[in-house]
Amino acid sequence: MKLGGDGSQKGTNLSIYVTVFVSIFLFGCFFINDKVEWMSYFPLSRPNPQEIQYQRPATNATVIESNKNSMSTMAKIDGEDNEEIELPPENCDIFVGEWVFDEVSHPLYRENECEFLSEQVTCLKNGRQDSLYQHWRWQPRDCSLPKFKAKLLLEKLRGKRLMFVGDSLNRNQWESMVCLVQSIIPPTKKSMSYSGYLSVFRIEEYNATVEFYWAPFLVESNSDSPRTHSISERIIMPESISKHGVHWKGVDYLIFNTYIWWMKSSKMKVLRGSFDEATIEYDEIQRHIAYERVLRTWAKWVEKNVDPKSTSVFFRSMSPTHIKSLDWNNPNGIKCANETTPYLNMSTPLYVGTDHQLFLVASNVTQSMKVPVYLLNITILSEFRKDAHTSIFTTRGGQLLTPEQMSDPAKYADCIHWCLPGLPDTWNEFLYTHILSHP
Ligand SMILES: *[C@@H]1O[C@H](CO)[C@@H](O)[C@H](O)[C@H]1NC(C)=O
Ligand SMILES: *[C@@H]1O[C@H](CO)[C@@H](O)[C@H](O)[C@H]1NC(C)=O
Ligand SMILES: *[C@@H]1O[C@H](CO)[C@@H](O)[C@H](O)[C@H]1NC(C)=O
Ligand SMILES: *[C@@H]1O[C@H](CO)[C@@H](O)[C@H](O)[C@H]1NC(C)=O
Ligand SMILES: *[C@@H]1O[C@H](CO)[C@@H](O)[C@H](O)[C@H]1NC(C)=O
Ligand SMILES: *[C@@H]1O[C@H](CO)[C@@H](O)[C@H](O)[C@H]1NC(C)=O
Repeated sequence: MKLGGDGSQKGTNLSIYVTVFVSIFLFGCFFINDKVEWMSYFPLSRPNPQEIQYQRPATNATVIESNKNSMSTMAKIDGEDNEEIELPPENCDIFVGEWVFDEVSHPLYRENECEFLSEQVTCLKNGRQDSLYQHWRWQPRDCSLPKFKAKLLLEKLRGKRLMFVGDSLNRNQWESMVCLVQSIIPPTKKSMSYSGYLSVFRIEEYNATVEFYWAPFLVESNSDSPRTHSISERIIMPESISKHGVHWKGVDYLIFNTYIWWMKSSKMKVLRGSFDEATIEYDEIQRHIAYERVLRTWAKWVEKNVDPKSTSVFFRSMSPTHIKSLDWNNPNGIKCANETTPYLNMSTPLYVGTDHQLFLVASNVTQSMKVPVYLLNITILSEFRKDAHTSIFTTRGGQLLTPEQMSDPAKYADCIHWCLPGLPDTWNEFLYTHILSHP
């Protein structure tokens, strides 16, 4: 079976319709702004495909270029049932594209079928009424992502370790990855263990692990405790990484990130001396300067400790937040609460306060390294996903929000983390694509 044939054609049609419909509808909402349960119209009133072809919207956002002419350059690999999946050509930038509403192919798993999801991310179970956020598929402009097949990924991971290293957004992505692969493993052949910094999902019959290591700044900091996170004064040691790094040695796939913990203020506190001294002294340094020091330390660690022949290294760019609804022209919104569709004008990036200077640092550092590092460039495409956060359907301090807290989204909505299934699955589709495309 060829991927990108029927599937993406359908996607095109649907997305055109969805864009038109949503634009009209949002327009209506701004003015009517009441309690119409409009979501129920959404999946029902799909027009028939013939009608849509003549309704191209006045924006480029939904026009998918045909990828037929690049077919011949696509690598093919055999999937199960003699099914073939097609990998995008090496020169296709998979991060340039658009979100397409696709109820057929997404979500890639069901929330209630993945027992390993934490309560923090199970938005439906926690009371979210709409599940639209689960159905958006990322469609690259110039090619298509290969269909996700857990078995193909697990074959690549056989006898290997894959580890996410970083903050709670990497934990978010790790949970997604666990769910993506676990469905084809029988109950007695998989297990989860948590011990301090490290959480390990083990897949017995493949002798493979999918792991998460907590290190929110990658380097040493006073925020390293995997349990106690309410640290108001964050202090880092930009040149100290080996205490954590020793746990990353020999891992076959390493996926790093660090971002959200930097965003508390424009300056970063950098330790003088050590945390053991009686009085802790620090300097305050501009965020991007300190970020670069940390990433240079990290790069040196990678170059010294990673053998590129056996280990693939990834760096995931910043996961955006959606705190100010005016950023997407919704004066009546409260943070990301009640957002149920992505921002669908994808012709230009949506500015939601992401520090893109840190992106430049990360892209610069990763490009200048002797060990190749694949940058998972998910920032801009994730900025459109104001609909995909856990919002009030989540936990706080390990407890589900109470009804009182839920009624105060201004204070309690979490517009940092993401529901699962959801956006981090797409980040993992990029990871999957890269892993499958390389020996
Ligand atoms: C669509 O893209 C073309 C070139 O790619 C550009 O000339 C045109 O202005 C764009 N239209 C819109 C509405 O953005
Ligand atoms: C990252 O992806 C965005 C689109 O999502 C693109 O505009 C940008 O050029 C990419 N940056 C890099 C460094 O690849
Ligand atoms: C299982 O995987 C580990 C690496 O995670 C490897 O060191 C070990 O040799 C593997 N065992 C078998 C029996 O393949
Ligand atoms: C958000 O949705 C809830 C119920 O779904 C509603 O009570 C509330 O008024 C909405 N808030 C805004 C700002 O639209
Ligand atoms: C999309 O955004 C661009 C830039 O902000 C704007 O010029 C254009 O009119 C928008 N298109 C639609 C259909 O709203
Ligand atoms: C990128 O790194 C080089 C040194 O490797 C430095 O000279 C340059 O200023 C950096 N650019 C940015 C945007 O950080």
